[in-house]
Amino acid sequence: MVIPESKIRFNSLVKSLDTIAKDSENGPQRLVEAVLHAWQLQSYPLLAKRVSRQLGELPLKDDVNKFSLWLSQQSFNDAAFWLASAYATWVGEKRRTEQALYFTPPKLADRVIDDLVQRGASLTTVHWHDPACGGAAFLVPTAQRMAQALAGLGLASGEVLKRIERQLSGNDLDKALLSLSRQFLLMALYPHIKAAQRFPDFDLRNEDGLLPPPSKYQAPDVVICNPPYRKLNAAETQRYASKFKDVIRSQPNIYGLFIREALNVVKPGGLIGLLTPTSFLSGASFSKLRSRIVDLSHILQIDMLSDRTSMFIAVEQETVISVLRALPTLTHEAMPTDIHILTPGGTYENVGKHRLCNNGAPWAIPRSTADSALLDCAERSTARLGDFGYSARIGHLVAFRDKRRRFPQKPMDDAPRCVVPILWAGDITKEGLDHGRVQKKNRTDYFIEVSSLGHTSVISLPSVVLQRLTSNDQHHRLIAAPVPRCWQTAHGGFVAENHVVVLQTQPGNRWTPALMAKVLNSAGINRLYRSISGASNVATSELLALPLPPPRELDEALSRTEDIDEAIRIAFGLATPVTLRKKA
Ligand SMILES: C[S@@+](CC[C@H](N)C(=O)[O-])C[C@H]1O[C@@H](n2cnc3c(N)ncnc32)[C@H](O)[C@@H]1O
Repeated sequence: MVIPESKIRFNSLVKSLDTIAKDSENGPQRLVEAVLHAWQLQSYPLLAKRVSRQLGELPLKDDVNKFSLWLSQQSFNDAAFWLASAYATWVGEKRRTEQALYFTPPKLADRVIDDLVQRGASLTTVHWHDPACGGAAFLVPTAQRMAQALAGLGLASGEVLKRIERQLSGNDLDKALLSLSRQFLLMALYPHIKAAQRFPDFDLRNEDGLLPPPSKYQAPDVVICNPPYRKLNAAETQRYASKFKDVIRSQPNIYGLFIREALNVVKPGGLIGLLTPTSFLSGASFSKLRSRIVDLSHILQIDMLSDRTSMFIAVEQETVISVLRALPTLTHEAMPTDIHILTPGGTYENVGKHRLCNNGAPWAIPRSTADSALLDCAERSTARLGDFGYSARIGHLVAFRDKRRRFPQKPMDDAPRCVVPILWAGDITKEGLDHGRVQKKNRTDYFIEVSSLGHTSVISLPSVVLQRLTSNDQHHRLIAAPVPRCWQTAHGGFVAENHVVVLQTQPGNRWTPALMAKVLNSAGINRLYRSISGASNVATSELLALPLPPPRELDEALSRTEDIDEAIRIAFGLATPVTLRKKA
């Protein structure tokens, strides 16, 4: 991705103040206040308070003023994003990750608000709430739109401000961000403040967004949120366990609980707009959440932001916007969802409607119009890997933990020991298995001593191996190779490393590993896999849920053509051939 010039300038301005930020515990907050103060002096004089003594000499620093001058030259919403991001950088990587201080860029915030407004969220009558508002990335543009819509109704500035005070609320755990949000809201509504000569008092709360005090607040009509995301530790999981037992499975990610809480707090019939990672669409640990979402809401729209080249999105993960309408009564039936895809040109393409199942299985979501037709056909097939006689497991060997003796070559001495090859992810290519391929890169552990060939780590059944980690920008997500049977039997089996997925079958299966690897490497199956997986690791749960052509139809198609892509097209009953798009 080309780094925009504004980002380069931002980085250098932030860096110039790094040492001051590290000076004291509240260094980041003081710095942000000083930059904000200088910016307000320049552009929002009514808001520039007397410099608090706590800031000391900071507002006089050259670099502080350089930063504020640069901010005043950006569009307001961009500048607010940059200043909040500066705070997130100054607090340091550890805290930034813990709190997920990654803010929504204005273009994306606009899209979430556009989606909600198009689905009927009123800007003039109803209450919008952000339970993890950070630096007001959603609150500011929502307030701006509310002000415009209310003024458009002919309301005077004083009344506009009053209505926004009632119609907008936010919450965050971080007090410094809340205070920044308050200032940003004042700056965004500055013309009305000037006209009315009144400083509005916004409803900004400092609570755990997952445990708001019961019945203290009225239920909002709209919840808008880019929740924090990270795995919760055991103590945190314990804290939320009883409230969220209907969605917690194993170690939950906090953003899943925020999705559940949004459904909890919003008014029946209300709207929810979420910006989140895509893992909840397919991950096994989110299966209960998926069922619950379908039970409690109509998923009106999904915008897949897989192609991030047209947007500045700081996080590495694939991102999705979901718009839900909370249903007044429970439903167990999935209703159609509009799917939109962000194109490399920065526009959104509607790729049709899909039903997202409520049985906890991964949701298949097309990443292009062509995927949509493929998915329609594939969803009619109930065949899965199991129907081809395969089971899946992850390689047993965790290299840094496993203390068994390893060798660069099979030892040729007469010692009475049992040694088998180790398969590494790097040995696997679409062209086949090449044991020792990475030896060229100085790997010396290509064989391992095992207690016996019956040890659980040793795989002796016919197998296909797949790379477990593939980038989700890569269209070829499944890289599979058959394990040559003669090689495997000559060694008595093999041990797979942990970054390898192993699919095993019984001897004599008509769907031999060679044929199954071809199926998995095909364009159609790769596109289907990509539709159910946004994460970079190839999960066994997703592989097992992957729709495949019915074995009988595929068998018949293969008797007519040797071309696997063509056979899959025929077996699915697809009108047009499936190809793999070029790498993004
Ligand atoms: C990914 S940021 C998003 C902020 C903002 N909504 C945006 O879109 O830019 C997540 C925010 O959640 C806040 N946060 C983390 N845990 C929280 C919790 N338990 N309750 C409320 N806020 C929380 C963090 O301080 C951070 O500001």
